[in-house]
Amino acid sequence: MLDVTDLSVSYAAITAVTGLSLTVADGECVALLGPNGAGKTSTLKAIAGLVPHTGAVAFAGAPTARNSTARNSTARRPAARMPADRLARAGLVLVPEGRRLFAELTVHENLQVGTTARGGRTPTYDLDAVYELFPQLQALRGTRCWSLSGGEQQMVAIGRALVAAPRLLMLDEPSLGLSPRNVGVVASALRTIKATTSVLLVEQNTHVALDIADRIYVMAQGGVRMQGTSREIADDSALLDAYLGQRVAAS
Ligand SMILES: Nc1ncnc2c1ncn2[C@@H]1O[C@H](COP(=O)(O)OP(=O)(O)OP(=O)(O)O)[C@@H](O)[C@H]1O
Ligand SMILES: [Mg+2]
Repeated sequence: MLDVTDLSVSYAAITAVTGLSLTVADGECVALLGPNGAGKTSTLKAIAGLVPHTGAVAFAGAPTARNSTARNSTARRPAARMPADRLARAGLVLVPEGRRLFAELTVHENLQVGTTARGGRTPTYDLDAVYELFPQLQALRGTRCWSLSGGEQQMVAIGRALVAAPRLLMLDEPSLGLSPRNVGVVASALRTIKATTSVLLVEQNTHVALDIADRIYVMAQGGVRMQGTSREIADDSALLDAYLGQRVAAS
């Protein structure tokens, strides 16, 4: 579904990601873990076509960018990118950090916006299915999004991505800043979603990631430092603790 090879992302003098490779197989749920500043968001943004990068990104078997290294072997210039909106219509859908809802539109209107990126695919989730997945949104259909809680906004953002019929759903820290109850709601929804949709998830909540993902990449300082099945990563909790700077095993 997704094949990333030797990805690098730089912002002026700052190198955020360097030489990163990862894959997401069809039907797989993969999580990226890592401390603040590891390059997780930059990786998702590069895959989604939102920031310049070098290296190869292939989505559903087709390259999303034409790297210019062949024509100029001495300098690695950013690849000519497919624009993000075209990638979204092709089924590569990102739920960004901070959700980016239309604050003045209602919950229902925000969901309707998502349907415009379907690109002719039949969605697993139509609007009714989103309200079934997140029942607490039902009573909020007509509520403008600026007045929602962070958890409710996250549910709308995930719903808006789902109605776009993603072939690969990418989520950047969906549980960040949510109440424990809403972390549970979002985690449980992701468990349902991954049964029908390939997922690439960035999570700072290690327990959620280990619980939901089939496979994990641990990033630090712009590169992949550990990778394996969730079970393998959980079994190596001492190393995971070292990379994340937190205790994982005990809780
Ligand atoms: N727009 C930008 N301009 C300059 N530097 C940036 C920009 N975005 C990110 N960076 C830098 O790139 C590095 C990687 O940032 P990135 O946001 O990808 O990390 P992250 O793993 O998502 O971190 P977090 O856990 O805090 O979300 C950091 O050093 C960050 O300061
Ligand atoms: Mg981030």
